[in-house]
Amino acid sequence: MAGAKGKQRVVIIGASGQLGTDLVKVMQDWHVIPLTHADLDICDFVYTRKVLEDAKPDIVINTAAFNRVDDCEEEVSKAFWVNAFAVRNLAQICADLDCVLVHISTNYVFDGQKREPYTEDDPPNPLSVYGASKLTGEYFARNICPKHFVIRTSGLYGVAGSRAKGGNFVETMIRLAKEGRPIRVVNDQVLTPTYTKDLAEKIKELVQTEAYGLYHITNSGECSWYEFAAKIFELLRLRPDFGPTTTAEYGARARRPAYSVLARERLAQLGLDDLRPWLQALAEYLRVR
Ligand SMILES: NC(=O)c1ccc[n+]([C@@H]2O[C@H](COP(=O)([O-])OP(=O)(O)OC[C@H]3O[C@@H](n4cnc5c(N)ncnc54)[C@H](OP(=O)(O)O)[C@@H]3O)[C@@H](O)[C@H]2O)c1
Repeated sequence: MAGAKGKQRVVIIGASGQLGTDLVKVMQDWHVIPLTHADLDICDFVYTRKVLEDAKPDIVINTAAFNRVDDCEEEVSKAFWVNAFAVRNLAQICADLDCVLVHISTNYVFDGQKREPYTEDDPPNPLSVYGASKLTGEYFARNICPKHFVIRTSGLYGVAGSRAKGGNFVETMIRLAKEGRPIRVVNDQVLTPTYTKDLAEKIKELVQTEAYGLYHITNSGECSWYEFAAKIFELLRLRPDFGPTTTAEYGARARRPAYSVLARERLAQLGLDDLRPWLQALAEYLRVR
């Protein structure tokens, strides 16, 4: 790969987000060029090309997204601009520069009808505008940029907290518990919560291969959002007014898959180790946050 002679030049887009922050940290021994939203709006196609041409990267990692899933239902145009059309532009630029594009996608490309983990070969069928816009972005990255890694992940939390969502799920649960509010969490959506530090480390391993393609990367195991919240409270010895609810009762604007656990088959085929169980990762996050 281009940087084999020296340090990889890696542009990280969305550098102050949860995953972006951890990527900058784990790649600090490479030549990292972090770009926050204030530095670069990927919807400005001309400026994006100029910035990337000047940066001369070996690798571009796009973590930027419009990821407020419910808001995407109303702001459809914005969802497709950020999650799809801007990705097409990035893919075209990376193809022209002959560099690697790493693009992050989501478990919400699946409809959740399956009851066992989705592999990379399972057909997607998104239920929401967010899922459809992210799937379109995947297709652009895969079909325009030959050197691509498209990585689907799920349930992210990291020490930077999701900027877009004003704190991640873990922080929201802790805040609600401390405020003494009743907490009801859906028990009929199953996924794998994933620590962005673990994901960032695996991305670093993966990009050192030339095994381009589509990958699922999450921590291992599975749980419902309710079970995830229960473990957060148990590990922190918090005792809030807490109970389960259903997706129907909760009534979110966007539809979400009932089951969206991702099988990490292609990582295994490559001989890369699986990620640790989600509960171990959560325990570490709660120690270092
Ligand atoms: N969070 C999850 O549970 C989850 C699950 C599955 C997949 N994913 C995917 O994983 C990736 C990373 O998620 P994350 O949780 O790390 O997100 P995040 O914390 O919200 O970070 C995303 C970053 O992108 C920036 N951004 C938004 N629009 C932009 C634009 N037009 N141009 C440039 N930067 C822009 C945001 O900046 P501002 O905040 O300043 O706008 C933010 O810093 C995303 O692709 C997401 O779709 C997330």
